Formats: sequence, structure tokens, C-alpha cells
Amino acid sequence: MRPATRGFLALAVLFSLISTPLAAADATCDSCANAALGEAQTCAVFALDGATVELTGGSQVDGNACIGADGELTMSGGTLVSGSASLASGAMSSSSGKATVGGGVMNDVDLSAQRDGALGAAADAAAQSCTQTFERLRGAQTISGTGGKNVICVGDVDLSGGARIILSGGTSDTFLLNVTGKFSLSGSSRIQVAGDLQPGGVLYNVEGTVYATSNVCLHRGGPLGQGLLEGHSVMCPWHAWSWDVRTGENTANPILRIPSYEVRVEGGDVLVRLPE
Ligand code: FES
Repeated sequence: MRPATRGFLALAVLFSLISTPLAAADATCDSCANAALGEAQTCAVFALDGATVELTGGSQVDGNACIGADGELTMSGGTLVSGSASLASGAMSSSSGKATVGGGVMNDVDLSAQRDGALGAAADAAAQSCTQTFERLRGAQTISGTGGKNVICVGDVDLSGGARIILSGGTSDTFLLNVTGKFSLSGSSRIQVAGDLQPGGVLYNVEGTVYATSNVCLHRGGPLGQGLLEGHSVMCPWHAWSWDVRTGENTANPILRIPSYEVRVEGGDVLVRLPE
């Protein structure tokens, strides 16, 4: 993004999705509700402004799907949203095959209270220190809690072919998964709880951290805002130079650095501190 004024700048676009577990269970999944989400706990999945929720294969959302302004819900195959789908202004949904939304699709829903709850939870989640870190979760794996809050920091979650991640814990365990890269579950793959851990004790914060850098690539001025973001790296669309959005450093040659800016999330706004 390119600074337009000095001081703090409110941005319109957030790249964040926060949810309680995706699971196959009963129609409402009351045990999935997580108090940390405030008003947003009525949504099993909440895609903040502009984000897309894509369900393929036999995957399903147990509860309600909330899609923020200008976001998208796409469903294919035998996918299911057991509750309703609430679409904010400008959001769209599409489905094919036997995809079903049990409670129906509602358009132009005012999700502002849910959005505030989700943003507050996302900002709080992103500020937590990691207790376990994984660059990538791809295959079958069990992650065991150690009692109390487990903050699991993950680059990519990329499960397919029926792969299962099991989160195992006792009655005192809660899990927070901060995912900074890709979050993809396809086929019959899933993340599920075990032991005495309840679905409502698990919170996913996908891309909950917002970074701001200059839009101008140092090579020949390419537009980084149109580049591909993978994990913490944005690749310039012109000649593929890659930059770490956390620091502004070139990933191949850290001596080269584009300006990066302090970001603060307050209520429903993302604020960027621009240079004096
Ligand atoms: S302008 Fe960005 S890589 Fe060339």
C-alpha cells in the first residue's frame, strides 16, 4: 500500500478470518461457541472484509457462516453449511453440485457487531506469544496441550487426502492457532479435538496480523500491492523479487529494504503510522 497522508491512515481492507472449529457434528454445535469472539461467536466461520471461504469435496461448516463486506462464499460438491450463511453488503455466494446451506442464505446482513467482536479477538490473538511453532502442518499429526492456553503459531495449514490434525488436551487446555499463511482443508481432511478438549476451546486466527509496507518495489518500481503474498513474503509481479512484509527486507538480500510501517488495530479500523 502507498502512504497518502501523514499520521495514521485507516485502511478499508482486512485479510483476516477467524473461526471456531470446522467439524462434522450436530446441526448447531453449541459447544463450538467461543466467548473470546464476543458477538461473533454466533458465526462458526467469520470471513472479514474481502476474504473468501471456499468449501470443496465433502467439507462442512458446523454452524453459521458469516461473510464480511465484499467477501465470498463458494461451495461445491457435497459441502454443507449446517446453519445459515449471512452475507454483508457486497458479499457474494455461489454453489454447485449438492452443496447445501441448511438455514438458507441471507443478503445485506448488518454484521458490524460481529465484525467488531472478530476484529477484537483477532488483534488479541495475534499479540499472543507462541508456545509451539510449526512452519507447516501437512500430514497427520497430534498436537498435545500442556495445560492452560496453548498458542500454536503456524505458517501454512495445508491438509488433503483425509489428513487429520488432532488437538489433544485436558479440561484446563485451550488452543489458539495463529495461522499466518495458507489455510486449506480439502477432501475429508480435518482438524479435530481429543481428550477432554471441547471445540469451543479452540480458536483459529488466520492471517490475523496486518503488515504495511511501501507499494513500490526497489528493483524497477513494480506495484507490490498486486504481488502474490505467501506466508510473510510478497513477490513483486514484475520480476519476482520477494520482500518480507514484517521487516521490508528483500528475502534474497536483506541489505535491500523497502519502508515498512507500524500497524495498530483499533475496533473496526486498521491504523498505519506513516513517517513524519
Ligand atoms: S520491479 Fe519488482 S522485481 Fe522488478
